[in-house]
Amino acid sequence: MILNNKVAIITGSTRGIGNAIAKRFIKEGAKVAICGSKLENAEQAITKMAQEMNFSKDQVLPIGIDLTNTESIKKMVSEVIQKWGKIDILINNAGITSTSSLLDSQDEDFYNMFEVNVFGLLKTTREVVKYMKDTGGSIINTSSMVGINGGRNQVAYASSKFAVNGITKSLAKELGQYQIRVNAVAPGVVETDMMRDSVDENLKQRLQAMTPLAKVGNPNDLVGAYLYLASDEASFTTGTIIQVDGGLVM
Ligand SMILES: NC(=O)c1ccc[n+]([C@@H]2O[C@H](COP(=O)([O-])OP(=O)(O)OC[C@H]3O[C@@H](n4cnc5c(N)ncnc54)[C@H](OP(=O)(O)O)[C@@H]3O)[C@@H](O)[C@H]2O)c1
Repeated sequence: MILNNKVAIITGSTRGIGNAIAKRFIKEGAKVAICGSKLENAEQAITKMAQEMNFSKDQVLPIGIDLTNTESIKKMVSEVIQKWGKIDILINNAGITSTSSLLDSQDEDFYNMFEVNVFGLLKTTREVVKYMKDTGGSIINTSSMVGINGGRNQVAYASSKFAVNGITKSLAKELGQYQIRVNAVAPGVVETDMMRDSVDENLKQRLQAMTPLAKVGNPNDLVGAYLYLASDEASFTTGTIIQVDGGLVM
């Protein structure tokens, strides 16, 4: 078990990619704060996970966190410290998306996107680093293929993910002095609620056809990259963005 006794916060772990990461981390011995936008969502996710796998109650902590609210973020971090006394791993995975042309976009569309995907991530990282700087640790940000290649009618989302990549590299440089590694994973098209909301069947078929591995990803296809970056196997890896996209972007 390569994450034995490590403490991990995974934002956006009630569903989709974050939930797949959480399940594997628990199997690898980690203690995981399961975070959703509401406490009841996190509790429901844990109930569902308990039907699928075995883990002790002490291995999980359900948390409702509003990433647009600094006080909510601070409360989340102090709950984790209170329960487990340290934070070894932070996965900034929660995110929102939208599809809109520039000319159809309203001011709020830009603000909402950055409030969650960029400012929420920055604030969460700052609050966690206040503790992590004493122990070292691993921070992993979920970026996106559109954070590398851009996306038509996705300027708000794509620019938020370019910002995530910039944050990853800047903080890798700044936080190395504390033995904190900062990396990102850039998923391609992955079958989750987010994808189903923004990609119709026609576009899905076309994306599949353009992908060298000829498929849309499953959340479990992403987990290995996070596991590597979170573990001591990646002890000399920081500032990288690992693309996990079936070869779609290269
Ligand atoms: N799926 C893809 O094709 C794809 C591709 C590239 C990158 N990504 C990135 O991967 C990450 C995970 O995406 P996903 O597809 O797994 O998404 P998802 O299935 O839509 O799940 C989103 C998660 O984020 C949480 N969340 C959303 N808004 C939040 C807020 N304001 N405060 C706190 N938590 C919030 C949700 O909590 P609740 O359950 O409580 O709502 C949920 O746990 C995102 O950063 C996304 O941009 C996804």
